[in-house]
Amino acid sequence: MNEWFEKLWDDYITSCPDAMKLHDIMQNLNENIVNDHIAIRTFNGGGISLNKLRQYMQLKNFAPIEGYEFKEKNLIAEYYQHPDPNVPRVFISELQVQNFSNSFQSIVNDLLDQSLKYVNELGIDIPLIPWKMIRYTDYQILNKESDYASWLAVHGLKANHFTVSINHLNQFNNIEEFNDFLIENNFVLNTNGGIIKGSRKKLLKQSSTMAHTLVKNFSDGIYSVPGCFYEFAERFEDENGELFYGFIGSSAFKIFESTNPV
Ligand code: NI
Repeated sequence: MNEWFEKLWDDYITSCPDAMKLHDIMQNLNENIVNDHIAIRTFNGGGISLNKLRQYMQLKNFAPIEGYEFKEKNLIAEYYQHPDPNVPRVFISELQVQNFSNSFQSIVNDLLDQSLKYVNELGIDIPLIPWKMIRYTDYQILNKESDYASWLAVHGLKANHFTVSINHLNQFNNIEEFNDFLIENNFVLNTNGGIIKGSRKKLLKQSSTMAHTLVKNFSDGIYSVPGCFYEFAERFEDENGELFYGFIGSSAFKIFESTNPV
């Protein structure tokens, strides 16, 4: 992993107890984990819009590959690839804030105004929470309309998840075997739409843990909110023998719900 991913990882494991637990278990099995991709969430404004982050990714030598739209969740997304095939892909999604209520928009716009200041002073140095901690009452207003928005308001531009590449594991033949292993080790998986999202035919199978609840300091008290989760991906070759590197909209849609309260 390069320096940037190490920084993202060190930050991520503070919000994903499952990641550390699994790494310890895998180390005991002498399995080396390779990451398929990571995911970052953002709002469509201020200093952190997808357009701004795309420039940042390009400076880091990542090229935008393909865009997606999740109408029901008011999201668009794009994924990025580095020329070094060992560097994980980066999936960035962006909430379309104008589609929500006025009170929702005014809370987000306040965060985005703050983001301008932070980004101008420091550049977009992800992981970053480019605003002060919000009030829990505001968190609840966001959460009512979009759990994506309330998660982003608390966690900012940290990795929402890292993703274990099942293809790179030596002792597991497929994602089904690995999911059984996770369940035996008491990990709680996202069962929304079935444990496995996607299929061999779609060239990608994915599963994920459910985010654990974390205790966070809000500006008006201490409350429990969902943290980060861990994802697992098995990729398949197409008819030309090429490994599929894209994403599947309907699967990503269900993976987003891994930060719903358990
Ligand atoms: Ni993912």
